[in-house]
Amino acid sequence: MRFRPAVEDDLDRLLGCVVDESISWSHPDRLLSFLESGAYRFDRIWLAEAEPGGEIMARAVWWGFPGTDRPLALDCLYVAPSVISLTDRVGLAADLLGRAHAAYGEAPAYHVFLSSGWRDDPRASAAIAWRWEAAGRAGLTDELERLRYEWTPADAPVPEPSDRLVFREDDDDEAFVAAFMRVAVGTLDHHTRQALTGMGPEAQAREDVGDYRSMPGERAWWRLAFDKAGELVGVALPSANNAGPVVGYLGVVPEQRGHGYVDDLLAEITRFHAGRGVQRIVADTDTGNVPMARAFERAGYRNFAIRLVLSASPVNT
Ligand SMILES: CC(C)(COP(=O)(O)OP(=O)(O)OC[C@H]1O[C@@H](n2cnc3c(N)ncnc32)[C@H](O)[C@@H]1OP(=O)(O)O)[C@@H](O)C(=O)NCCC(=O)NCCS
Repeated sequence: MRFRPAVEDDLDRLLGCVVDESISWSHPDRLLSFLESGAYRFDRIWLAEAEPGGEIMARAVWWGFPGTDRPLALDCLYVAPSVISLTDRVGLAADLLGRAHAAYGEAPAYHVFLSSGWRDDPRASAAIAWRWEAAGRAGLTDELERLRYEWTPADAPVPEPSDRLVFREDDDDEAFVAAFMRVAVGTLDHHTRQALTGMGPEAQAREDVGDYRSMPGERAWWRLAFDKAGELVGVALPSANNAGPVVGYLGVVPEQRGHGYVDDLLAEITRFHAGRGVQRIVADTDTGNVPMARAFERAGYRNFAIRLVLSASPVNT
């Protein structure tokens, strides 16, 4: 078996890889549009072939911000239907991921989108089971479930403006770096906690601000929130990804928590997008971030799916 990153000449064969299982995958429309936008790149797609130019036996597709070199997340793991034995599927997929990780010098997390009741759905469970095992063998041993929420005007009315907070723009990124650092203290968000142990508060805040800047949402949408006394309460960043408008990020500084300000921040983001005529807003939060999940539910956001994130344990990276 030969493992290698794809090149442009592979396009037709890459488009011929079809995942006929109950799981998210890089289908031809997604592949073409993401290759066009730069979110996918040929050198961030790896394939396994038995002989040069022959059938693609396995394919792994990573996603990244356009214009950056780092692959951020594994988006799709495919093994040809002709590989029938589960042991062979797992082995082949694990080998492919292992080769790519070695070339990248890191093991990006695998993000899988599943329906909320996937554990009770034999097709969805089977589709994730062999991939989960392969990802684990390739070092992605930590698992995290995130709840995916959506808001539409049909689900819930557009909220009223907050009567206790004032929202301000600030074109100085340093103001957001400082606010992100404060908001990250005591966070229940798994990714932020992991990043804080790895790199410390200021570097973590800068990386986050940089990541939100790389998203398709506009920087001018970001807001700082203050109470009537002029004290900082938190941040509210409406944003967008390739699929459309998202909540982006919001947070309350530790000394202001427990007053339900999360509702005011989320309402501001919802109002902002609705005011632009947006018909669907999507958001994710960890199952363990209970105050955030409750706020989405109070605001009429509907849990429509799960994002399963399989990542390398920080002790192994
Ligand atoms: C999630 C968050 C915005 C909630 O803000 P909030 O305005 O304090 O939320 P609520 O007032 O509804 O809090 C409800 C309860 O949860 C508690 N709580 C809120 N955040 C908490 C935290 N990080 N850790 C422990 N408890 C927390 C509150 O104290 C309150 O408890 P009480 O009912 O006993 O008084 C806030 O925790 C935060 O900024 N976290 C860091 C950033 C984050 O996770 N953002 C979401 C990313 S998707």
